[in-house]
Amino acid sequence: MKTRAKPVWRLVLSFIALRSCAAFYLPGLAPVSFCEEGTSGDECQSTIQLFVNRLDSVESVLPYEYDVFDFCQDAEEKRPSENLGQVLFGERIETSPYKFNFNKNLTCEKVCTRTYDISAKDDKKKLDFLKSGMQLNYQHHWGSKCPIIDNMPVTWCYNVEDNQKYCNPGFPIGCLVTPDGHPKDACVINSAFNKKNMYYLFNHVDIMITYHSGATEGWKGARLVGATLEPKSIKHEDENKLTCDGPPMEIPNEFTSNTKVTYSYSVKFVENNSIKWASRWDYILVSMPHTNIQWFSIMNSLVIVLFLSGMVAMIMLRTLHKDIARYNQVDQWSPDWVKIPPASGNEEAQEESGWKQVHGDVFRPPRKGMLLSVFLGQGTQIFIMTFTTLFLACLGFLSPANRGALMTCAVVLWVLLGTPAGYVSARLYKTFGGEKWKTNVLLTALLCPGIVFADFFLMNLILWVEGSSAAIPFGTLVAILALWFGISMPLTFIGAYFGFKKPSLEQPVRTNQIPRQIPEQSFFTKPIPGIIMGGILPFGCIFIQLFFILNSIWSHQMYYMFGFLFLVFIILLITCSEATILLCYFHLCAEDYHWWWRSFLTSGFTAVYLFIYAVHYFFSKLQIVGAASTILYFGYTMIMVLIFFLFTGTIGFFACFWFVNKIYSVVKVD
Ligand SMILES: *[C@@H]1O[C@H](CO)[C@@H](O)[C@H](O)[C@H]1NC(C)=O
Ligand SMILES: *[C@@H]1O[C@H](CO)[C@@H](O)[C@H](O)[C@H]1NC(C)=O
Repeated sequence: MKTRAKPVWRLVLSFIALRSCAAFYLPGLAPVSFCEEGTSGDECQSTIQLFVNRLDSVESVLPYEYDVFDFCQDAEEKRPSENLGQVLFGERIETSPYKFNFNKNLTCEKVCTRTYDISAKDDKKKLDFLKSGMQLNYQHHWGSKCPIIDNMPVTWCYNVEDNQKYCNPGFPIGCLVTPDGHPKDACVINSAFNKKNMYYLFNHVDIMITYHSGATEGWKGARLVGATLEPKSIKHEDENKLTCDGPPMEIPNEFTSNTKVTYSYSVKFVENNSIKWASRWDYILVSMPHTNIQWFSIMNSLVIVLFLSGMVAMIMLRTLHKDIARYNQVDQWSPDWVKIPPASGNEEAQEESGWKQVHGDVFRPPRKGMLLSVFLGQGTQIFIMTFTTLFLACLGFLSPANRGALMTCAVVLWVLLGTPAGYVSARLYKTFGGEKWKTNVLLTALLCPGIVFADFFLMNLILWVEGSSAAIPFGTLVAILALWFGISMPLTFIGAYFGFKKPSLEQPVRTNQIPRQIPEQSFFTKPIPGIIMGGILPFGCIFIQLFFILNSIWSHQMYYMFGFLFLVFIILLITCSEATILLCYFHLCAEDYHWWWRSFLTSGFTAVYLFIYAVHYFFSKLQIVGAASTILYFGYTMIMVLIFFLFTGTIGFFACFWFVNKIYSVVKVD
């Protein structure tokens, strides 16, 4: 038994070790030095290898591997190892046939020629796929991984309105002029692209590499600090003598004559010693025109936070204080600083109502305590995972270009955080008076991850049928299962063991035998309106940030503002807590003591707004076509919403839990 289990463990361990250390590379730790051919040695290398990643499109959720298209392929194709996150995001990196040496300018170099014969059925299929790629505006992504051009994405910079420069870490395959003469997408950049119903293929790239030379600073070689390119469409008349000055490479919509496409490239090296290697990202980041909006969003959120904090502070300091003083005064207890108003009939009547009245019921265990404790356990796991990941990203441990690293980090953390999940779930379940501890442990380990995995698996089937690169290889799927069952689950068991061993949480007031009648509630203190209102303010704090996150996921824009994101995380934490505490207080004042589930759902309802926003985003921002893409979009959205629900719900619950414990521990109960 033991010997058979060993290889699986070794596989899992080496998997984690390999994948996660790649994920935790430090930008600025190990620059690669390059030098000219002939002078290269141990300290520097001369060949620059360009890598290509999968192609993706805003109009389709399905990414495709570079290989799937009929571009020039590298003869000795090699795949660098990818981290788990990259695999999950569908990134597929391979070597490209574009090779060059450091500081050796090349002009109009041929890569390969592809011919399409009208008599060959296969050729028509290949060409059609290329055209559909251009129609859906699929984008190349070159150089966005470790060895790729020394960690630099090759960007395409162009002017947008107001003479601002925008650098896109991708560039289109080509573009198309519609039958009624409208140039689509990238076809607007060149007025020569003007024939109706015509495809223009970008078969040539002008690459410019900027380097920082070490000669003046006393180190050998040079470091690459920038890589940009410009895609061009050029019809090469003579494939053996390229001049790069022909008319655009046109591909008519109807495939009526043999077509020949020659791919070519030029490379230019430019020295610029004023750019430091450590800040080589700046030109991409600065050219992103969103910083103002980010600040606006933060200000907007801060206003909400201030408003909520003001309300909470008012309640805590004034109302609660008064309440407590009044309640305790009956027992002839009063500190000097509380002015006791002369007792009157009015005062007596007030005494009969308020949150103190429910002291005998407020800690009555909730219905469905099992499910609540399981949600809270998993919510805790997600909370710590998110916090740590964002904290690391914020410190700059995770490169902005590498979404994979972020994802890997999150997955590994989630796996390792099984123990807190088991502990919280078990401890709360015991407090709720639950006895089916085995069911509790199993549900904590399996319920939500199971739902996510099942959803993920279905998405994967669709991707697999569509032949997309985002389909997770079988090996990775097995590895994920191994991480889940082999590491996360045992850790959850350990946590649950300790959770059950501890005594249940102590409560400040005793619970009566007979439940109290809940008085008739006004509209605003009824459960559903309260819950619906509860999510509005936290959502108001995050929705601008959410726009950027959705853009980064679905429109493949780079997300790099982890500092902002961390700030928003903190703000979300505060608003969720405060909104829940406020509503919790109002409900208790109305003598409705069912606060356990309600506090969870009040802030958890933010996830419903998230879903509504995602639907809105789908219809207003994305031009996704096809059933498969639509199903995928909503499949992934459901996973996001579930995770967010657990996350926000847990914050609200624990805030309210703390609040209720606090107020009932200071009030005197006979
Ligand atoms: C390459 O081209 C750039 C720009 O035209 C020029 O500044 C540089 O000196 C050239 N390098 C070599 C080695 O010829
Ligand atoms: C070097 O880069 C900086 C910053 O991008 C730019 O302002 C400067 O003009 C460049 N210098 C040369 C010589 O190209």
